[in-house]
Amino acid sequence: MPVYCVTGTNRGIGLEIVRQLSQSSDNTIIATTRSLSSDLTDLKAVASSSTHILECDTGDVASIRSFVKEAAQTLGGDKKIDFLLNSAGVNLASWQSSLTLGPDELHTQISINVIGPAKMVELLLDAGLLSRDVRILNMTSGLGSMQSSLGIKPRKCAGYSISKAGLNMLTVHQSEDLKQHLPGAVVICMDPGWVKTRMGGEGAVLEPHESVGGILRVLHALKPEDTGSFYLYNGEKCPW
Ligand SMILES: NC(=O)c1ccc[n+]([C@@H]2O[C@H](COP(=O)([O-])OP(=O)(O)OC[C@H]3O[C@@H](n4cnc5c(N)ncnc54)[C@H](OP(=O)(O)O)[C@@H]3O)[C@@H](O)[C@H]2O)c1
Repeated sequence: MPVYCVTGTNRGIGLEIVRQLSQSSDNTIIATTRSLSSDLTDLKAVASSSTHILECDTGDVASIRSFVKEAAQTLGGDKKIDFLLNSAGVNLASWQSSLTLGPDELHTQISINVIGPAKMVELLLDAGLLSRDVRILNMTSGLGSMQSSLGIKPRKCAGYSISKAGLNMLTVHQSEDLKQHLPGAVVICMDPGWVKTRMGGEGAVLEPHESVGGILRVLHALKPEDTGSFYLYNGEKCPW
């Protein structure tokens, strides 16, 4: 009976992850959403009877702290999280370049895209809620790859790209730092491809079910030696 925890599940890729995981009644799913006051119609429609919808604003450390307490109560003492998927993310002011960066937009993106996944792991670990062999997936972007970004013209999404590069480096640190606490833990970052969601837009090339089908295949096949890796949704390794 594996336990999954997924962030940002009211729409987009997070919603599709919950939809696919809900198809097995063996899976316990903690599906988090920024606010329980949001429109959760789509999430409730795909949730199974073992899906628990909890509030977690991943851009707010106090909210993550409250969520961890609620998650502990929900899991009831014996269960731990086997798979943590940090999917929540934002891409703000995509027109800004490195020469026109807005400090507020950059701070918000770093807060949600980097500090959120960092504090989720730290606080869930402190609460003893991560299983010994936990698999942690940080949803990044090809725009977070230094090597891929060098060739992109016209340049775009500078703040987002900088925040996802930070998330990639966080992944490398987490993969090493967790070893002393949870020797079997595996931490990776995942580029979902260009997906038709509100963020990806209509011009994107992948349906959410194609991207998420691949992501879950990669996640379930992870071995200890894969920790610290950067994957594309189809299992190819991405350049850093
Ligand atoms: N779609 C793509 O082509 C693409 C490509 C590369 C990487 N990605 C990455 O994939 C992940 C999911 O993207 P998506 O395409 O599903 O985007 P999306 O359709 O815009 O959905 C983003 C999700 O993140 C949630 N979220 C944003 N800020 C949050 C916060 N502070 N606390 C909690 N939840 C928050 C949103 O909730 P609200 O409704 O409350 O805002 C929503 O559920 C992101 O990390 C994104 O960077 C996507």
